[in-house]
Amino acid sequence: MNPKAKLQPKAKLQHWDEQLRRLFGEDTYSEGPLAASGAGLRFFGLNMCGRLNPEQITFLLDALSQFRIICIAGQDLTTFSLAHFERFANYWGAPVPHPNNFLRGGKPAQSDGDSNGAFELIPFEKRRVSAVNLTFPNQLQCLPHQSPAVLLVSNFSGKITGVQDDKNPIRVSSGGSWHTDIEYEPLPIYVSMFLVHQSPVSRNALGKNWVEAPNATTPYLEGSCNELMQKRMRLPLNGETAFVDTASAFAALPSSEQLALEQIQLRRRLNQSDEGWLAPLVRTNPRSGIKSFHSPIWASRPRVRPPVEVDGMSQSKSRAFLDRLEDHVLQEQFRYDHLHRPGDITLWDNYMTLHNSPPAKVNINSVDDARLLYRLSCKGKPVLSLPRNDDPEWLETHIAGGYTTPIEIINI
Ligand SMILES: [Fe+2]
Repeated sequence: MNPKAKLQPKAKLQHWDEQLRRLFGEDTYSEGPLAASGAGLRFFGLNMCGRLNPEQITFLLDALSQFRIICIAGQDLTTFSLAHFERFANYWGAPVPHPNNFLRGGKPAQSDGDSNGAFELIPFEKRRVSAVNLTFPNQLQCLPHQSPAVLLVSNFSGKITGVQDDKNPIRVSSGGSWHTDIEYEPLPIYVSMFLVHQSPVSRNALGKNWVEAPNATTPYLEGSCNELMQKRMRLPLNGETAFVDTASAFAALPSSEQLALEQIQLRRRLNQSDEGWLAPLVRTNPRSGIKSFHSPIWASRPRVRPPVEVDGMSQSKSRAFLDRLEDHVLQEQFRYDHLHRPGDITLWDNYMTLHNSPPAKVNINSVDDARLLYRLSCKGKPVLSLPRNDDPEWLETHIAGGYTTPIEIINI
């Protein structure tokens, strides 16, 4: 680790391009940074159907550790399957089953997060999201899969094309709250990734956008100042995923404030009655040495998970302290809205970014409004060759059901 690590200056981008061509072929190239803050790098011409060699995965791991968000564009979805996607995820960490895809003690895991009941996978056909395939039967079907690690993200779920009624009019959902993925477990998710199947192409709303900005303050709890609320609610209008670069937001502060913030510990807990545990507010990336805020948010999952506390502060002081930090990181210069294109794999480091889901049309009746993505998320350490060899005890402790990707998927 380099204790004096700096964010990548633009001039160094040529180095990444040269390495890319050496490792992946002369026809490959990169584009970036994608964000004004210096975050984000997009690669073109890489085919992720095959296995990666140790030098190739080292290059990609290094790129993410420097740029916080990377996009490997243009996979051909007639050949690139969700099995290829899950194998690719295994290099980054141990894939985590999503609570939508399994039961705990016979109950949906998502709504009963503290249960340690028996772990039971739900086959795709019995998942609620399997209804997505009923929506546009001859136009859009999700890629086949059974894996509990694949989270299907869509803005449609079975409404029959062309049938709209007063009970289910087309409307625009309000978008989510700023968060990182599974920051509320003792070992948070480190990297998440989307594979894009479909992104909305209609631009019929005001300003030639997909949707108009919804006039709502959900899902936030009451009591934050107007200025912060306005920053929270300014979300992209074409189905982009909204990101914040928390490495740049940290780097922008005076060093005396950085030093003080590095001492801060947050008490996180899964449920209100839990004692919880302490987790650092500032993390150092083990590859690049870059420092960043990890989820500097008081209540990132309003009404679902309890707010965090700053160690040594009261609940009200904790809120004031973290609302001030959220106000800092949500400034325009640290923001980046990532437009999704079919076939793109987009990865982000959850310790170095925040993200949010955009407002989206729901109850749609045109495939031009469809947004369909697959998400995988990983915990633990990357590996340079597969299969992974995670300690069974570690898996039992940190990965629901001790899940590991079946060897048939690794060997595809
Ligand atoms: Fe998320």
